[in-house]
Amino acid sequence: MFADDVLQKFIPYSERIVITGCNGLLGQKLHQLLSPHNTIIGIDLQPDTHLKGPDFQYHTLDITEGSELIDAILEIQPRFIVNTAALTGVDLCEEEKDLCWRVNVLAVEHLIRAANKTGAFLVQVSTDYVFNGKNPPYSESDITSPLGFYGKSKLAAENSLRGSDIEYAIARTQILYGVAPQIRPNFVDFIRNKLTEGENLSIVDDQIGNPTLADDLAEGICRIIQLRKKGIYHISGSESISRYDFARKIAVQFGEDPDRISPMKTASLNQKAPRPEDSTFRLDKINKEIAFHPCNIVDGLKIYQQQLEQLQTALGGDN
Ligand SMILES: NC(=O)c1ccc[n+]([C@@H]2O[C@H](COP(=O)([O-])OP(=O)(O)OC[C@H]3O[C@@H](n4cnc5c(N)ncnc54)[C@H](OP(=O)(O)O)[C@@H]3O)[C@@H](O)[C@H]2O)c1
Repeated sequence: MFADDVLQKFIPYSERIVITGCNGLLGQKLHQLLSPHNTIIGIDLQPDTHLKGPDFQYHTLDITEGSELIDAILEIQPRFIVNTAALTGVDLCEEEKDLCWRVNVLAVEHLIRAANKTGAFLVQVSTDYVFNGKNPPYSESDITSPLGFYGKSKLAAENSLRGSDIEYAIARTQILYGVAPQIRPNFVDFIRNKLTEGENLSIVDDQIGNPTLADDLAEGICRIIQLRKKGIYHISGSESISRYDFARKIAVQFGEDPDRISPMKTASLNQKAPRPEDSTFRLDKINKEIAFHPCNIVDGLKIYQQQLEQLQTALGGDN
């Protein structure tokens, strides 16, 4: 995280930017950073949004509806499109392969067609699940080999971008957490809620990766936009950790006893989708090319806690 004056150097100004999935966690964080100084056109499935801004428009749109989406983008004539919308439930993607493919691949191909017609620069958000987790740490040029259908769909979208003629960037991320109103619970929400409700927890100690504060990812994407950086970028928190150890740190941050969390193995969960064991990212490229140094776990959790308290105060109760 950067002081305001340093950060402002990397925030685009006076651009027309479409954010798909604007009501989701990352979408809201992007809106928060970009909205004050840009024309933001948010797209999401819900009939309405709580997002506001001096120059903000909202479109209820399913990005799998190709002609509707392309017509909308042609009318909007954005300079940038950031596609955060996705089917993100990895087990759901295993069960609903058709839906997953339509949202995570075909919709990206509609966006590519729209970008082709308008000259827009497309930023696609992708995932560490394009890797099999056997050879960490992963750099952007490492060989991909997804284990499950979610990772396969996100890789197919990356490949569609690679095969296109448009200007694009791919921001791969992982274990996204953060605070925003009306979002689906992320890993930190889940652990915090369970501990607050008095439950003890068993969490896997054989899945390792870099937890990522959504504010950091949004900031990284703003830098990519501002610097018009093309290609693939790994954007995640700076530290790698097992889910079990991360859960213990969450407990400590919220004043709970970390020994209420016990380790367990992924195999005993019998989940539909296989998960990579260790998909730790190398961050050299974002450090060097966009001068970005995302926060570590303790700092990220502190920011999360502050934002949660602010949100609870604003809502006059619990989130
Ligand atoms: N969360 C993670 O740990 C993680 C890890 C790696 C990569 N990523 C990637 O990061 C991106 C953002 O994740 P996130 O956690 O911010 O996701 P999120 O909170 O689930 O937000 C996604 C938003 O997109 C909307 N959406 C879904 N399908 C849509 C469609 N067909 N048309 C229009 N909008 C649609 C969702 O609406 P509904 O809520 O109504 O479905 C939601 O508002 C995704 O591309 C994801 O693949 C996430």
